[in-house]
Amino acid sequence: MNRLLLRGFDIRKSYLDGTAQAGLIEALRPILKAAPLISPVTSRGQKMSVRMTSAGEFGWITDRAGYRYEAQHPKGLPWPAIPEDVLRIWQELTGLDRRPDSCLINYYGEGARMGLHQDKDEADFSWPVVSVSLGDDALFRIGNTTRGGKTESIWLNSGDVVVMGGPARLTYHGIDRIRFSSSRLLPKGGRINLTLRIVT
Ligand code: SIN
Ligand code: FE2
Repeated sequence: MNRLLLRGFDIRKSYLDGTAQAGLIEALRPILKAAPLISPVTSRGQKMSVRMTSAGEFGWITDRAGYRYEAQHPKGLPWPAIPEDVLRIWQELTGLDRRPDSCLINYYGEGARMGLHQDKDEADFSWPVVSVSLGDDALFRIGNTTRGGKTESIWLNSGDVVVMGGPARLTYHGIDRIRFSSSRLLPKGGRINLTLRIVT
């Protein structure tokens, strides 16, 4: 494991070994079955290329009504529980007594990307966000706490974990592109990113 600090983002390269990564994929399988991935649209009706679902008490949603957290999947069922293995990563890296109440599950297929944004739909930005990368390599871009300015990029690989806390909690970030099929973790290729948050 190798640790890197980039603009306050605490990047743990290869935090999870292959066995741990495969275990997480197994733990996600029933979640994706119970709470299928959604192709979200923004409030302006623009379809996002990333597909999403969630685990935990709250799931992050976007549709014509805008960005928000909801206690149910649009299908009308509560979100599945966050797997223990995922909660353990949060606990190990943050040392916090409080557990995340939301785990956003993003799936990047071929060509998917995510524009620069801040995570700011949560009530209290003093809690960190923990991000787990699984599957294909992704080019992660980090900007500033306000829109614009110079950015820096780093490739995130399967098993990398990033903690966004302190001043970096509100730093713009996004995924420019993935290297589709660069990893064999997911049989059909693609990338899964988990972000753990405290919403309330
Ligand atoms: C996000 O910012 O929600 C996702 C980041 C990532 O996919 O690594
Ligand atoms: Fe984000």
